[in-house]
Amino acid sequence: MADYDYDVLVIGAGPGGYVAAIRAAQLGLKTACAEGRETLGGTCLNVGCIPSKAMLHASEYYEAAAGGAMAAMGIKVKPELDLPTMQGQRKDAVKGLTGGIEFLFKKNKIDWLKGYAQFTSADTVEVAGKAVRAKNIIIATGSSVTPLPGVEVDNDKQIIVDSTGALELAKVPEHMVVIGGGVIGLELGSVWRRLGAKVTCVEFLDQILPGMDGDVRKEANKIFKKQGVEFKLKTKVTKAEVKGKKAVLTLEPAAGGDAETLEADVVLVSIGRRPNTDGLALDKAGLTVNARGQIETDHDFRTTVPGIWAIGDVVPGPMLAHKAEDEGIACAENIAGQTGIVNHDVIPSVVYTMPEIAGVGLTEEQAKERGEVKVGKFPMMANSRAKTNHEPDGFVKVIADAKTDRVLGVWVIASVAGTMIAQAAQAMEFGATSEDIAYTCHAHPTHSEAIKEAAMAVTGKPIHI
Ligand code: FAD
Ligand code: NAI
Repeated sequence: MADYDYDVLVIGAGPGGYVAAIRAAQLGLKTACAEGRETLGGTCLNVGCIPSKAMLHASEYYEAAAGGAMAAMGIKVKPELDLPTMQGQRKDAVKGLTGGIEFLFKKNKIDWLKGYAQFTSADTVEVAGKAVRAKNIIIATGSSVTPLPGVEVDNDKQIIVDSTGALELAKVPEHMVVIGGGVIGLELGSVWRRLGAKVTCVEFLDQILPGMDGDVRKEANKIFKKQGVEFKLKTKVTKAEVKGKKAVLTLEPAAGGDAETLEADVVLVSIGRRPNTDGLALDKAGLTVNARGQIETDHDFRTTVPGIWAIGDVVPGPMLAHKAEDEGIACAENIAGQTGIVNHDVIPSVVYTMPEIAGVGLTEEQAKERGEVKVGKFPMMANSRAKTNHEPDGFVKVIADAKTDRVLGVWVIASVAGTMIAQAAQAMEFGATSEDIAYTCHAHPTHSEAIKEAAMAVTGKPIHI
């Protein structure tokens, strides 16, 4: 240790990096974390998971009041939108949580090296003009928005924006065009639709939410359409021009054909994210990236260079905060000589719209490619709690191996799907069969009973349909 400044230096303080730093410090390793942003917490806390959920939560209340759902339950109110206050509570949420990470760093005696780190060799980086040498370096630099050629984002103008700009709009757009029917487009599109915008979603593929179960994608499309979102599927945007306070988009069928134009007050570019490796000078460390710009690692999160590790959005796999966090813990444990493991087959994903959309494990399509399956489905309409709460949309789907009955995947569309999916993930981690779930006592009346009934439906015996 004599000539090293630290046992562990983490580059990036997002959910991957800050969690890795805390676990490393907890394990007795002298730890520093380099972060160039003014606050800790990365994309997730500053401009991602947290502020988007703050706006989703508030806009859901607004819509419940403005759209008549509250009146239907006997609560008559005439809501008035106070957008600065709504934005204020978003900023407060971010401030509170990023400040919380700073507190945790102090508590765990982690040095925050303020600045962007750049490799100068395999064990040394430069941060804010200072060389720092570490026995182990964890790259956790995350990801940023994938640009769309011909559609230039300028968040300051608030006309063509990315997710960061879409969180900060100063007024509700009359017409918002979302490019990309993925997670960000649907979540942030929902926020502004609820607050009064007309939303059009342009998606390159023939269906929204790629990667999710086929039934879920179809049902989600129906639900969002019912909510008023207009979809232009199999369509690509080839150009955007700002004319005064509007953007004029040129659209073409994905397969080629006649172009059309579409005018919008705000355009949200949400066609995916790409790993952050520019500026790291990876070559000085002897590292390369793959064709997708990601840093490849082995199962233990070791890169090809001894002593350099990588986790989170910058490595292959779903770009999700909880995946980054779990990798951070496992990576720090491996550095400390323990056995840190992440089961990448059981990583839940959740879209925080209303209803929420969640899944874990294989889609029905993927499961069928691997062998024979049994599928049980149960509609939320038949779940007493969902029905009582006026939340009839959605279903639960349990996919099990036809021979062993082992659960291979669970998909949920329900108001609280994000909470429900945790029990499915836990069951799958424990190698549960559909019968195990079906014979587990679930509290009544809860939305989770729909998971039990879908599991019962795998062998054909649900009670309430
Ligand atoms: P990041 O959080 O991106 O953090 C990386 C950090 O590294 C950044 O702070 C960056 O400044 C810093 N950095 C980069 N290069 C350097 C350098 N050279 N030196 C020093 N610091 C550097 N995921 C979910 O699971 N649930 C959600 O609800 C969710 N909502 C989202 C909503 C939006 C709008 C967006 C954009 C993303 C959302 N995500 C969500 C994805 C989630 O934010 C990411 O998967 C997660 O933040 C990845 O964590 P990370 O630690 O790998 O990287
Ligand atoms: P995404 O990958 O979820 O969706 C992008 C969509 O854009 C896809 O449907 C794709 O087919 C489409 N697309 C690509 N190019 C296009 C083009 N030229 N024209 C029209 N459509 C095009 O990416 P998104 O929504 O930007 O989110 C990035 C990542 O952030 C996600 O992969 C997710 O991991 C993470 N995230 C997670 C959230 C959550 O967990 N709730 C919330 C928000 C983001």
